[in-house]
Amino acid sequence: MYPQRVLSGMRPTGALHLGHYHGVLKNWVRLQSEYECLFFVADWHALTTHYDSPQSIGENVWEMVIDWLAAGIDPSQATLFVQSRVPEHAELHLLLSMCTPLGWLERVPSYKDQQERLSEKDLSTYGFLGYPLLQSADILIYRAGFVPVGEDQVPHVELTREVARRFNHLYGREPGFEEKAQEAAKKLGAKRARLILELRTRYQEQGDASALEQAQALLQESQNLTLDDRERLFGYLEGARRLILVEPQALLTEASRMPGLDGQKMSKSYNNTISLRENADSVVKKIRTMPTDPARVRRNDPGDPENCPVWSLHQTYSSTEQKQWVQEGCKSAGIGCLECKQPVIDAILAEQKVFIARARPYHEDPDLVKGLVADGCEKARELARQTMRDVREAMGLNF
Ligand code: TRP
Ligand code: SF4
Repeated sequence: MYPQRVLSGMRPTGALHLGHYHGVLKNWVRLQSEYECLFFVADWHALTTHYDSPQSIGENVWEMVIDWLAAGIDPSQATLFVQSRVPEHAELHLLLSMCTPLGWLERVPSYKDQQERLSEKDLSTYGFLGYPLLQSADILIYRAGFVPVGEDQVPHVELTREVARRFNHLYGREPGFEEKAQEAAKKLGAKRARLILELRTRYQEQGDASALEQAQALLQESQNLTLDDRERLFGYLEGARRLILVEPQALLTEASRMPGLDGQKMSKSYNNTISLRENADSVVKKIRTMPTDPARVRRNDPGDPENCPVWSLHQTYSSTEQKQWVQEGCKSAGIGCLECKQPVIDAILAEQKVFIARARPYHEDPDLVKGLVADGCEKARELARQTMRDVREAMGLNF
């Protein structure tokens, strides 16, 4: 019905690291050439947990966008913007809050988890409870079809689907809807119209999901429909409502297998990261002092890559032959650990050279970043305004 848009956001938490690159950003780079993509900085989401120390958010926003650009996000393909510069997100959040049951938010797993994990902070705030609903507004306001996220965020996308469904159910009534939908069907030609209506009946009377899919596919490929008629027909297939908001799907991002320097997950809070644009000396030093298999006390002691975080880095960075060399050399004590680390050091430095080169023009001229984000905000706002017009109208606010 709507173009398959991809939307994702990241909180501005400071310099991004290689875990972000191999987990999230590489995926965004791939998606940007396949779909219309919108990527944004979730600065309001950062405020939900850092409302008492908002000073750092501003700096982090620009640094993070530069990291995205360094990683290969291309502003001529993807739209990059900042959440708080598209205030329509806040309006949709407010309107959705009217019809979202409190229990839905209290039951989101991250709510209690985070409150416990960040127990030094007072997170019994209205804003924090609303975190996932703000995220729903972020997604629904662009009618995004796909939302690439990690596993921890899947419940938020699920909530978004429920919120959209409830909204459509409550506000998707339109006077004369059925007639309008049937008129719209006629525009497809008598034969197609009959087929689509038959499929609809099969779905609604027998719950035949494949009939629904077939009908949706037929609509998807019909060119001679206005956007309004299309939307009506999609709503008509599923019930007797307009679908004002689109239910998104999560695109599960596989967890990064990139470990931190100590073998745990790479994360700023474990202090085990290599940032995207770290200086070369520091990278070399960090990897050279990385722990290895504790069994290799002396150079002659054989080891096992399975017990060594350096091996995980080889899995990201090394060729099959190199990995073979590590396996044999480690188990036979044929190579030393520093020797084993060298190809990883070389690969990371080579990767970072590209990042640093891409970031340089933006680093030297911050106005360049601000300019492209301002353009992105304007584009995003135009899309957001369209949805808000429909939402206000559906809720009876266009009096
Ligand atoms: N909550 C997400 C995170 O912490 C960030 C986010 C905010 C987001 N709004 C979003 C992600 C909308 C996807 C879509 O990672
Ligand atoms: Fe780890 Fe390589 Fe040393 Fe084996 S040789 S313990 S894989 S660093």
